[in-house]
Amino acid sequence: MRRKIVAGNWKMNLNFQEAEELIEDLLELLAEEEELKTEVVVCPPYPYLELTTDFSEEKLFHVGAQNLSAFDAGAYTGEISASMLASMDVTHCIIGHSERRKYFNEDDQMLTAKVNQALAHDITPIFCVGELLPEREAGEHFKTVRWQVRHGLFHLDTAEFSKVVIAYEPVWAIGTGVTASPAQAAEMHAYIRTLIDERYGPEMAEKTSILYGGSCNAKNATELFAQPGIDGGLIGGASLLAEEFVSICKQAQTA
Ligand code: PGA
Repeated sequence: MRRKIVAGNWKMNLNFQEAEELIEDLLELLAEEEELKTEVVVCPPYPYLELTTDFSEEKLFHVGAQNLSAFDAGAYTGEISASMLASMDVTHCIIGHSERRKYFNEDDQMLTAKVNQALAHDITPIFCVGELLPEREAGEHFKTVRWQVRHGLFHLDTAEFSKVVIAYEPVWAIGTGVTASPAQAAEMHAYIRTLIDERYGPEMAEKTSILYGGSCNAKNATELFAQPGIDGGLIGGASLLAEEFVSICKQAQTA
């Protein structure tokens, strides 16, 4: 059975007090869900990581970062290394999000370095892939995702790859209120699994968790998660609302 995972990507939102309130609300709601098996990951902005890892001692969720440095350590002003994150009990990190690819020019080479840094420090990469709208309209979505998966991850050996979580996030669905249809998402998840099968074999293809992201919310989560091959979600906007986020976590388990 593949792990069901729901990760909340807060992006660059909330002040310190608001972050504290959201964490407290999440803890209260998650504490009521004793049967919840979904792996819940909360990815706040860097300055709130320590606050979040302190609270996560109650083991109701894991803590992820939204980014990490491609470099190991040293004179890289403004950067945050994987070893720093690991030393703060950060267990996951989003890598290759389309906003980082677009606004910070993160290319394949940089992303492989980031994936390597994460794995070297036992941090689970949540590696994002997804096509732009013109690429889908031109029928090139499989080609784009194939390129991203191959160039971002397929340098890894089997043991390393087994620690990776993939998130399929069509860029046109992120923050737009337009989700991929369940069929579109399922089709791409199945395609990613065939790529994994070709490179690492059927067992790995079967056990890799692939999340869907892009305007996933409490209203559409069950339908998306019910698709074969969709193992949970990477949630942006809806992760800022405690009740909505916990509802999505519950839907991942029951779907
Ligand atoms: P969204 O963001 O849920 O707000 O569309 C998803 C993401 O960017 O991970």
